[in-house]
Amino acid sequence: MMKIGVIGFGVVGSGVYEVIRKNRESIARKAGQEVDIKYILDIRDFSDHPEKELFVKDFDTMVNDAEVGIIVEVMGGLDPAYEYTKRALCAGKHVVTSNKELVATYGDELLALANKNGVSYLFEASVGGGIPIIRPLNQCLAANEISAIVGILNGTTNYILTQMFKNGKDFDVALKDAQEKGYAERNPAADVEGYDACRKICILSSLAFGKHVDYREVYTEGITALTLRDIAYAEEMGCVVKLLGYSKLLDDGRIDIKVAPMMIPNEQPLATVSDVYNGIQVRGNAIGDAMFYGPGAGKLPTASAVVADVIDIAKAPERAGRVMWVRTDEKLVLPADEACASYFVRVETADKNAVSVSAKAEFDGATIIDKFDNELGILTGCMSEGELKGKLSNLPGKVIGFLRVLPQA
Ligand code: HSE
Repeated sequence: MMKIGVIGFGVVGSGVYEVIRKNRESIARKAGQEVDIKYILDIRDFSDHPEKELFVKDFDTMVNDAEVGIIVEVMGGLDPAYEYTKRALCAGKHVVTSNKELVATYGDELLALANKNGVSYLFEASVGGGIPIIRPLNQCLAANEISAIVGILNGTTNYILTQMFKNGKDFDVALKDAQEKGYAERNPAADVEGYDACRKICILSSLAFGKHVDYREVYTEGITALTLRDIAYAEEMGCVVKLLGYSKLLDDGRIDIKVAPMMIPNEQPLATVSDVYNGIQVRGNAIGDAMFYGPGAGKLPTASAVVADVIDIAKAPERAGRVMWVRTDEKLVLPADEACASYFVRVETADKNAVSVSAKAEFDGATIIDKFDNELGILTGCMSEGELKGKLSNLPGKVIGFLRVLPQA
């Protein structure tokens, strides 16, 4: 019997409880032993819960109990999750988590600590909710050298963008709609400013490239400035706009990594990923391109990934302590201004002709899109962002903004 302690009885924690109760027999069959919950730690009162005896308020109770083999940390945030995780690993407990913030911030340290103590630190649920992506990268695609990962990694923003595209709702209305449906947090900054997607692309990159990618060094732009005019231009160009986590390993070992809304041509697989779904495209040197698709958030999908990690450990606890990436002193992240792409630029002007002539001179082969009064759209060729910014200052009009076009991997 593998006994587990669950930290946090919120959306994911209650999902873990439900899945373990619902699929008890099949979980036991797959794990090779019964898996049961011994404790649930939550500061709130659950005295009317049908299994109220499971609830404890003190972490010591579970970490000091020799019967507990796995601690499931689904409380989120850094404090006290970081301390609890370290204490659990040092006490010889395996730890399973959905906490992307913790993995993105201290993943290298916690993996090393797990290794030192002969236990596992698994985090399938930290990226892509219910979509299998960590294990595929770490195991099924292990024969490949991964060169690029591009993903729609945040369900909330994908829902908002889908509403803007399909139903013509502007950003504020679509956000309110997402909040009413329970997709967006009450404070939606982590989603709409791109921070959530940034942590996820950093976890995937660290795993794929073996070195800790610090999210604080990654250029991150959210979707708050997008308007229905951007959407109308994208439609005219046969594109959609998606918030992407983009990561590409360069020949010199640096990583071109960013989070930003990008134009994607309609024929690309990621363009078809709508609503709260996530899609992650991985390029490997043996497999070519593979895409992972599914529910990127939600109670039971995320719990499904957490419980799969629990089963993995229960099945073979001795396979523990697999360090997956390490921290290095190298400057891994390519400065944003050195990254290359094509760009879609909007310029406000009363003199469209002057802007058009200047854009064609500045951007060799530029396409001009004349769709609205007092502004022009310009699609540039491929160049560095630094070069783009220099050229934009030469245009005889006010630059409203620019969007990157998804570069070829
Ligand atoms: N807020 C996240 C999302 C939840 O919308 O994708 C899952 O990490």
